[in-house]
Amino acid sequence: MILDLIEGRKTGRTPVWFMRQAGRFLPGYRKLREKYGFLQMCETPELAAEATLLPLKTLDFDAAILFSDILIPAWKMGMKLSYTGEGPKLEPAVASLRDVEALAVPAPEEYRAAGEAVKTVLAGLPKGKDLIGFSAAPYTLLTYMTGGAPGKRAGAAGKSAAPPEVFPALMSKLEAVIINCARAQIKAGVKIFQLFDTWAGNLSAEEYARSVMPGTARIISALKKDGVKVIYFAKDAWHLMGDVRNIPGIDVVSADAGHTLAQYDARLGGRFILQGNLDPAVLLGSREEMKAEIDRILAEGGKLKGHIFNLGHGVRPDTPPDNARFAVDRIHKSFCRRIFS
Ligand code: CP3
Repeated sequence: MILDLIEGRKTGRTPVWFMRQAGRFLPGYRKLREKYGFLQMCETPELAAEATLLPLKTLDFDAAILFSDILIPAWKMGMKLSYTGEGPKLEPAVASLRDVEALAVPAPEEYRAAGEAVKTVLAGLPKGKDLIGFSAAPYTLLTYMTGGAPGKRAGAAGKSAAPPEVFPALMSKLEAVIINCARAQIKAGVKIFQLFDTWAGNLSAEEYARSVMPGTARIISALKKDGVKVIYFAKDAWHLMGDVRNIPGIDVVSADAGHTLAQYDARLGGRFILQGNLDPAVLLGSREEMKAEIDRILAEGGKLKGHIFNLGHGVRPDTPPDNARFAVDRIHKSFCRRIFS
C-alpha cells in the first residue's frame, strides 16, 4: 500500500506504521527477549523475521520494518557493540585516522542474516502490506562510533573528542558501508528503504550543508539507482529542511512532531509525500486526546501530495498496546468516517 502511494496509485485510505514498532512495547517481543539476546535475534533470520511480522499480526500495521538495528554495520566493521540500560555502546570510540583505517567495509554478503530475514518476511507478508528496509544515515552512525551518543549533544562535527580529520575520513568510509548494508536488503527484495538520521539535529545548517548532506545525497542516489524508494528521517532538524528539500531522490520525508505537517509541507515546497507525525507521548494519553490529535494529523495529511501516518519518533516502550491498536483502527477507519459523516 505504501509502495502504491509512492508510485502514485490510489490507496483508498492513509497507510500507517510506527517507527520502532517491532520492539519492547509489544508483550510478544518481550517474551522473545526472555529467551534470546537482541543481537542473537538480529543475526538469526527466523527470529528476525518473526519479530518483524509480530506487530503486523497483533496490530494490523500496513508495513513491516525489518528487525535489525542501525548499529549493526559498525559492529560488522569491527567495533564492539553492547546494549546497556543507558542505551547502546560502541567501543572503543573511533578517535584517530588510524582507527578509521582499521575498520572494515563489510561486503553485502556479510549481512546474510538480514537478507535471509527479508526473504522470509516477504514470503509471509499479507497482501497489500509492505516491508521497509533501513540503515542509519552516515552522520548518525558516525555519532555513535565516535562516542557522541546517546543523550549528549556532543556528536556534531568538530564537537566529538576525535581530531577534525577523523570526521571526513569516517564519513567517506561510511558511505560505502551503508550502501553495502542497503544492497544486502535490496537484493533480497526490499523496495522501500528508510534512512535514519536521528542525530542530524545536532548540526548547524552550515555544517550539514558542507560536510553531511553531500555524502547523504550520494547514498540516496546510489539507492535510487538500485531501484528502491527512499524515506529520509532527520530528527530535530527543522533548521535543516531547507537543505533536505534540495537532496535529489528522496520520495518521502519523515517529519518529527516539532512542527505540523502543514508547516513541513510549506517548508519543503509541497514536493514530497510526508510521513508522520504523531507525538509518541500522545499514545500514553486518553482516548479523547488520541482522537483529537489523530484526526488533526489525518486532516492535514489529506491536503498533502501523499501521507503515510507514523509517529514523530519511535514508539515508546511504555505505550499500552491497546492504545496503539486504538490509533491504528482509527486511522484505518478514517476514510469511512469521512464518507458517512
Ligand atoms: O521496530 C523497528 O523499528 C525495527 C527495528 C529497529 C530497531 N532499531 C530495533 C531495536 C530500528 C529501525 C531501529 C533503529 C534505531 N536504532 C535508531 C533510529 C531510530 C531512532 O530511534 O531514532 C537508533 C538511534 C538506534 C540505536 C538504538 N538501538 C538505541 C538507541 C537502542 C536502545 C534504546 C531503545 O530504544 O531500545 C537500540 C536497541 C534496540 N533497537 C531495541 C530494538 C527492538 C531494543 C533492544 C532490547 O530488546 O533491549
